[in-house]
Amino acid sequence: MPGSCATAVIAQAAMLVPLPDPLTFEDGASLAHAGLTAAGLARHWPLSEGSAAVVWGAAGAVGRLLVATLAERGVKVIGIASGERIEAVRAAGAAHTVDRSAEDVQAAVRAYTGGRGAAAVFDPVGAETYKLSLSLLARRGCLINYGQLSGDLPSVDMKELMTAGSVFVTKYGPGGAEGPGDMAGLISDALKLAAKRPLTSGVAGRFTLDQAADAYRALDSGANGKVLVIPGGSAL
Ligand SMILES: NC(=O)c1ccc[n+]([C@@H]2O[C@H](COP(=O)([O-])OP(=O)(O)OC[C@H]3O[C@@H](n4cnc5c(N)ncnc54)[C@H](OP(=O)(O)O)[C@@H]3O)[C@@H](O)[C@H]2O)c1
Repeated sequence: MPGSCATAVIAQAAMLVPLPDPLTFEDGASLAHAGLTAAGLARHWPLSEGSAAVVWGAAGAVGRLLVATLAERGVKVIGIASGERIEAVRAAGAAHTVDRSAEDVQAAVRAYTGGRGAAAVFDPVGAETYKLSLSLLARRGCLINYGQLSGDLPSVDMKELMTAGSVFVTKYGPGGAEGPGDMAGLISDALKLAAKRPLTSGVAGRFTLDQAADAYRALDSGANGKVLVIPGGSAL
């Protein structure tokens, strides 16, 4: 919640979520926001058991949790990551992985879906991958964008959607949750999954409360992993 970079915070009871046993408070802090996003994304488009979904950034914080959530529901996940990070995607539960730094993503997705394409593509990248993501969809599939890691998003060309197989495009954001109780439920579902599989992404830095400004600077400079502020901790 806003203002939670503090020693003590007052929150609505409905927003609180129990931390499952094997997880540490650092895990909880690292997983909560990504878990909320992943659980919200997973219910944004109906996917039946056995259908195929592509997840870009699958080794990222949101990506790992999204792969695991979809896999748990019997969706055949094709997770895209680069280099050794594909190991984390496998561990999260992907049926197939694609190393975007070494493989032809379009050919791989076509092969893994018997030439049909995927029922959904989850894309946090935006500009750079938009057209490729459309080409990975099966007829009437849906591209769910939830980020713009590569810069401003393109405008939607309705004719292009028809040509791609009468597909759908949507942009997911925090408004996809119904309120504090719904958000807590989504976070709780994600934490339960993280108690079963290795889904926590790396920690880029730990800061004490009096170093909070440095933590925000680390975020601004594009730290690769989660940045944690630990109230009450001694200098780290
Ligand atoms: N809409 C929402 O409610 C919401 C909520 C939370 C986060 N987000 C957004 O979701 C995005 C992901 O967040 P995150 O915390 O999961 O980030 P993250 O941990 O940094 O993971 C993102 C991953 O995307 C991949 N990537 C980066 N640039 C790429 C490119 N040009 N082409 C293909 N893949 C690329 C990278 O993995 P590889 O190099 O291994 O492929 C990267 O690790 C961010 O844009 C964030 O702002 C949105």
